[in-house]
Amino acid sequence: MNRPPIRIAPSILSADFARLADEIARVEQGGADLLHIDVMDGHFVPNLTVGPPIVEALRKVTKLPLDVHLMMTNPDAFIAEFAAAGADYLTVHVETCPHLHRTVESIKERGVKAGVSLNPATPISFVEEIVRDTDLVLIMSVNPGFGGQRFIPSSLQKITQARRLIERMKSPAVLEVDGGVKPDNAGPIIQAGADILVSGSAIFSADDYGAVIAALRAAGQSASLPRNPQTMSVHR
Ligand code: DX5
Ligand code: ZN
Repeated sequence: MNRPPIRIAPSILSADFARLADEIARVEQGGADLLHIDVMDGHFVPNLTVGPPIVEALRKVTKLPLDVHLMMTNPDAFIAEFAAAGADYLTVHVETCPHLHRTVESIKERGVKAGVSLNPATPISFVEEIVRDTDLVLIMSVNPGFGGQRFIPSSLQKITQARRLIERMKSPAVLEVDGGVKPDNAGPIIQAGADILVSGSAIFSADDYGAVIAALRAAGQSASLPRNPQTMSVHR
């Protein structure tokens, strides 16, 4: 089965927070498809970032879909606020949600697309029972909490497994990969089955954000397509 075109989601975690609107305009002009916003609570992950007021403010300065990644212990308590703030995707971590089905339904009831994310040490099987009901599966390829970390190589196999699960379960979910994604490793990540690449430090440390976004996308074009389960088996 042919996959849709690859989408690029710059993570604003590595942007200049004092000039956020300008930074977002630059990635938007540079061809970004979504804007990835990392919400960290200082508890589930050892860092603090932003909350609903920033999402609401960003909603007013960009047309890009807002892809909100909730790295927080009790996301249920904030789903209504993030939905009202204008999130297009709300992604929760399976490690934080004992009632994941209820959480996913509560996101979707608000007209927001629901994502589920897995830390590097969490097996793919943790999303097996929910994958048909989700709009997005997010594979963390670093331990969440900080930008600028190195891609964990075993993540490639996990991306392949996630793609197979999505196909096997006939899930509508898109597959997103987050952490250490750069133009020089994007090819194998896309070939393993990613639909959306999150990239923070690689984009925002460059002079030309659009050039990095284009290079990430081009890595998909040079990967041998179509991306299907047969071609992915070479990475096992
Ligand atoms: C990490 C965040 C990522 C981060 C990615 O916990 O979820 O979205 O911003 O940054 P890079 O691309 O620098 O690894
Ligand atoms: Zn993220």
